[in-house]
Amino acid sequence: LRLGVLASGRGSNLQSIMDQAAAGKINAAVAVVISDKKDAYALERARMAGIPAGHINYSDFPSKDAYERSIVELLQQHGVELVCLAGYMRIVGKVLLAAFPNRVMNIHPALLPSFPGLHGQEQAWAYGVKFSGCTVHFVDEGMDTGPIILQAVVPVYDEDTADDLSARILEQEHKIYPEAIRLYAEGRLRIEGRKVYVSKINH
Ligand code: GRF
Repeated sequence: LRLGVLASGRGSNLQSIMDQAAAGKINAAVAVVISDKKDAYALERARMAGIPAGHINYSDFPSKDAYERSIVELLQQHGVELVCLAGYMRIVGKVLLAAFPNRVMNIHPALLPSFPGLHGQEQAWAYGVKFSGCTVHFVDEGMDTGPIILQAVVPVYDEDTADDLSARILEQEHKIYPEAIRLYAEGRLRIEGRKVYVSKINH
């Protein structure tokens, strides 16, 4: 399975996906990494792994549609079959979604539908929840609203800072994102309305 990863920042989720793929744990390879930020460390990580890395600058385009057409073109040039958002800080629009229907995934650092949007970890910590976690979901036109594939739960302790909680969540992100991709690559995810069913392996 050929993956295209979109990232805006440090790229630790990208790294976990590249590592699992290189280790043969998931039947997938990152074909291209694209960032809207020139200095994203994710681009550097891709280059260090010998993976094509491209910067596409939003403000070089007259519209969001035009910007996304250029992303879609690059993804298609690299034969991408599944798009993975990994710290990509923009809302995906209709051009990208139409080119990859039900083939865009995202990871969010909270238990959706709680705490969507920016800073899900801090929001949960400030709210005072006793458990939080992370969510891998398919992407639709909304913000963090698409069908949920996998979630992982972590406890919140009294002595935690928001950073402590973020770190505990990130550790789980690095597990469940590659796991969701593995299930997709094995053809085991089926979307029905809001629900994503994971089929068992038939022996
Ligand atoms: C992660 O917390 C992810 O859940 C959120 O953005 C952050 C990206 O981190 N969508 P990284 O760039 O993968 O290290």
